[in-house]
Amino acid sequence: MDKIKVTGGTPLFGTVPIGGSKNASLPIIMASLLTDGVLEVLNIPVLADIKTLYEILKVLGVRITHIDDHTTSFNAAHISELTAPYELVKTMRASVLVLGPLLSRFGECQVALPGGCAIGPRPVNFHLAALEQMGADITIEEGYIKASVKGRLKGANITFPKISVGATENTLMAATLADGQTVINNAAMEPEITDLALCLKAMGADITGIGTSCLTVNGKDKLGGAKYSVLPDRIETATYMIAAAITGGKLTLTDTRPGDVTAVSEALRKMGVEITETDDTITVDGRDRNLVGIDIVTEPYPGFPTDVQAQIMALMLTAKGGSTITETIFENRFMHVPEMQRMNADIRFINDTSVAIAGESKLKGAPVMASDLRASAGLVLAALAAEGDTLIERVYHLDRGYEALEAKLSACGANIVRLHEDKEETKTQDTAQNGTTAL
Ligand code: EPZ
Repeated sequence: MDKIKVTGGTPLFGTVPIGGSKNASLPIIMASLLTDGVLEVLNIPVLADIKTLYEILKVLGVRITHIDDHTTSFNAAHISELTAPYELVKTMRASVLVLGPLLSRFGECQVALPGGCAIGPRPVNFHLAALEQMGADITIEEGYIKASVKGRLKGANITFPKISVGATENTLMAATLADGQTVINNAAMEPEITDLALCLKAMGADITGIGTSCLTVNGKDKLGGAKYSVLPDRIETATYMIAAAITGGKLTLTDTRPGDVTAVSEALRKMGVEITETDDTITVDGRDRNLVGIDIVTEPYPGFPTDVQAQIMALMLTAKGGSTITETIFENRFMHVPEMQRMNADIRFINDTSVAIAGESKLKGAPVMASDLRASAGLVLAALAAEGDTLIERVYHLDRGYEALEAKLSACGANIVRLHEDKEETKTQDTAQNGTTAL
């Protein structure tokens, strides 16, 4: 398995182009299942999770045509299979998002039940309850969700007991082809939901309330094809913002949307980081190293994102004074804490959901293990600020969500190399120059 070696202590300077959002691309690509028209999607990042989704779509019979590195078209006119198999679903939980589109267009489907994962049990009960309210008959048999409906799904008034990104997306897609009106209350408001809704509208869906916590969908008999460009990745953006701050460098992030990372910018500014913005760039100047500790609580959008919790924890370790983090979204999202402690980080559990970060930790390189995608990003950031070498294992987690991470970082001066299974070091500088991905 590949490892990443980071030698810390170098301030990063330069420009980082931000790619399309992983978490918007996944549901948008799945929306292609709602139509027999062609959906052309632009600005798709090159990532392991996207490749997994292509495998699932191919099993179903979707015709996939790659137009360029980041543009692909999907034609689901000839669906031949209505089962998403466990072998693929188990590697990516978001696969459960095929459920809403397949059920609503074909009246039946089977999707392997995603198991637990490193950040918590992650049930899909809200997805299933919403589809049942729309008339679906759902059973769990032999590890599969088996869903069917007589005729069409029916519009319903759905109120989620808790905000869920995935359940909102699944229900929204299902509702576009349902008979009548669906109202989704307590809907997630993440920019990725808005992006999905705008793509569905481009395909002919009738959706109002986009960007709010109440979405109203008037079902249509049919949706058509469309051409849609995915929004920039706000979590990748936030990760590189913190990379500038933690190394005491200055980075300009391009092709991004400052308005989608407001909670992160506010937190960083409170810590003392200088941030300037244009419509589509963010410049983070971390050269003044007088950062102070802050307290954050992760929340659904527009609150501070759980997907940036591990990364800001790394930055807090380098601030003066203590910080606290309270994680309210996932039960088990502190797996990076013991790994950071191996790097000399002074972090203490207050209780199961909160940690105290002492600050001014003299981070030292160490062998560490990545447990999930964002935990891995937090470890890379800590490693960039640490003295000496950090060897990060299980970097396949990073490949799920960061396109060309080593290439982008090394182009700004980071000392980072990927060690392949055969232990041979790959200089990522070359990849950065010729623009291909390091995945
Ligand atoms: C999405 O996951 C993202 N994934 C996650 O990003 C992100 O961390 C999360 O939203 C929160 O922002 C994708 O978009 C592909 P949820 P999702 O349903 O949809 C509970 C990353 O690193 N819940 O909003 O699975 C759940 O357990 C990933 O890119 C139920 O109880 O998250 C959690 O506590 C990781 N029952 C909370 O709701 C359900 O049926 C929010 O989860 C569904 C969710």
